[in-house]
Amino acid sequence: MARVVTFEGVEGAGKTTYAHWAAYELFSQGHEAFLSQEPFGAVGGFIRTHLLAGSPHCIPPLSQLFLFEASRVEHVRFLRSRRADEADFVVLDRFVDSTLAYQGYALGLDIGLIESLNRMSSAEFWPCKTFLLDLDPKSAAERVRLRSGGNAWDTGQDAFFKAVREGFLRIAENNPERVTVINALESQEVIRERVRRELQSYVRP
Ligand code: TYD
Repeated sequence: MARVVTFEGVEGAGKTTYAHWAAYELFSQGHEAFLSQEPFGAVGGFIRTHLLAGSPHCIPPLSQLFLFEASRVEHVRFLRSRRADEADFVVLDRFVDSTLAYQGYALGLDIGLIESLNRMSSAEFWPCKTFLLDLDPKSAAERVRLRSGGNAWDTGQDAFFKAVREGFLRIAENNPERVTVINALESQEVIRERVRRELQSYVRP
């Protein structure tokens, strides 16, 4: 079974950049690495068009939860169909912790319920290592303002951002073995070195 490595954090923290870099780095070291991201597939498309285009409070949290979990079921089916489980690593840009942080800690749904659904939807792809790129709301808002192509959740939601960030930090606190918190304001060199070093312990000889 592939080792699943996830990158999590608020918008603007750099998840996508480092997930791509990590997959490439593993690949250059001779490992087979499969890179993917959420929200995924047809349900992911629906989420982007109908959910992320409005405020996080427009659609009831429970509906959101079911949408993100359905998107994950589709994602896992895709990963299996591509035999990603047979790769050395599966690197994911957002996964189960995003649901816990956004729909759980920030939007108030029951954490135990989400944990159960996350276990079901992710099936055998449970992460062994998660890098949480931690960023304060002010820097996040500034980064998001400077980049193009974001969604409506990315802007003007200070209290929501703060709650999501705190949710991620709670997840890290509750899962110290799995989750490594990285200050997203560190230089790219420092962050890459940290990720590289941590990943070494998951490389099979
Ligand atoms: P996306 O446009 O992919 O941007 P990002 O680069 O921030 O990942 O947006 C995904 C959005 O979906 C983001 O605002 C977080 C949210 N989300 C949830 O609320 N719950 C989830 O389970 C997932 C996977 C994402």
